Amino acid sequence: MLRSIKSVGNLLRCNYRYFQTSTSSLSENLFVHRDSTEDNPDIVFDFTEANKKRAQAIISIYPEGHEKAAVIPLLDLAQRQHGWLPISAMHKVAELLNMPKMRVYEVATFYTMFNRKPMGKYHVQICTTTPCWLRGSDDIMNCIQKKLGIKPGEMTADRKFSLSEVECLGACVNAPMIQVNDDYFEDLTVQDTEEILNNLSHDKPVKAGPRSGRFAAEPSGGLTSLKEEPKGPGFGVQPGL
Ligand code: FES
Repeated sequence: MLRSIKSVGNLLRCNYRYFQTSTSSLSENLFVHRDSTEDNPDIVFDFTEANKKRAQAIISIYPEGHEKAAVIPLLDLAQRQHGWLPISAMHKVAELLNMPKMRVYEVATFYTMFNRKPMGKYHVQICTTTPCWLRGSDDIMNCIQKKLGIKPGEMTADRKFSLSEVECLGACVNAPMIQVNDDYFEDLTVQDTEEILNNLSHDKPVKAGPRSGRFAAEPSGGLTSLKEEPKGPGFGVQPGL
């Protein structure tokens, strides 16, 4: 009995991925800070003049006494300016919002959208959660790794691409998909993925969205419901009302 349990276990381990669990790799983000030559508190970070104005505009949205709620948009602004989020940028945000540094660290390390290490010009995030996996995300992942020569959590030597494996990005109905910087590329085939990466490697613009010809997430075989004209306001309301 023990032997047969072991052999089933060995069989499962031989598969590319455990069936009963999600991917074994954890987030590649750095949650513990270690001083390095490119990320230490002695490196000065400041917002550009344009971003200082943006930061003040963001802070002014929040009611007096609640300015700390601007921490996420300010961290995002810092990351967009710098390309990733060094500790000095977190300190600058803490200073602007008059917050303890620890509170800023807590936010920056909780959300995986904040990158705590240098990132390539194009951050390719591939979703491998179940709907994308069932629709072929393994093939897309293999294509990207082969094309870029890197694994999830790594950056290409020319600093052009970083690759991350992520959980559901909320575009399951257009699976499989990847996100590159702020854009989604959906309904992907391996050929589509190669074409996208080829264009990006030459800094050519690439059209975001579904690759299947769909406009968005409508049924690929055409509409099956809600085909008639909308009835307009008041439809179905009792006459007495
Ligand atoms: S499972 Fe991939 S976007 Fe939701």
